[in-house]
Amino acid sequence: MDKAQQDALKKAAGIEAAKLVENGMIAGLGTGSTVKFLVDELGRRVQEEGLQFTGVTTSRRTQAQAESYGIKIVDIDDVDHIDVTIDGADEVDKNFNGIKGGGAALLWEKIVATNSNKIVWIVDESKVVDTIGKFPLPVEVIPFGAGHVVKKFEAKGYKPVLRLDADGKEVRTDENNFVVDLHLERIDHPFDLAEDLINTVGVVEHGLFLNMVDTVIVGDPNGPRVLT
Ligand code: 5RP
Repeated sequence: MDKAQQDALKKAAGIEAAKLVENGMIAGLGTGSTVKFLVDELGRRVQEEGLQFTGVTTSRRTQAQAESYGIKIVDIDDVDHIDVTIDGADEVDKNFNGIKGGGAALLWEKIVATNSNKIVWIVDESKVVDTIGKFPLPVEVIPFGAGHVVKKFEAKGYKPVLRLDADGKEVRTDENNFVVDLHLERIDHPFDLAEDLINTVGVVEHGLFLNMVDTVIVGDPNGPRVLT
């Protein structure tokens, strides 16, 4: 699949998911290129159809895009619930367990997700896999002592790589942390791995999203498939 085809599937999934946002709702808005299509469609509905909803965003990037359409964005602590959160993913398996954080927004994404009544992922069909782990697993770590965390991961065979930007500088998250990507190739025991990662001092959060997702909307050449 080339990028144009993949983008068409991402866009179709985003447009389908936008239908889930109704007047008066509080909606969590994820991060990434697929969510960008979602926010474009929500912005269109706000401007052309008078849709009124409140958004809680998972990154400053998404906040800027949403606000450019006039979508009302509030701080997560200013709402007592989130009706639905729609986000992208890097990989998802048939049990709706998956990997997020390719866009370095995993921490806010997980905080928003765990405070949502319903979680919907939008992906193109290439993201649906039998076993997660081919996509490097992002782990958000505190900069202080990050080198030691990387060494601990190396000793465990997790094949960590500190994420750098195009200028060779450490990528910083919206919380100013680093991201370490684990090149595991496959993750057979995601719950055990999640436990190990979160118990490593210096780790803030990891990109394993397990037992959280209610619906996956898959962009498919035959039209978006809604999996529940
Ligand atoms: C950002 C994420 C994204 O949702 C994930 O990387 C998918 O991105 P895209 O829609 O661009 O493929 O987790 O932290």
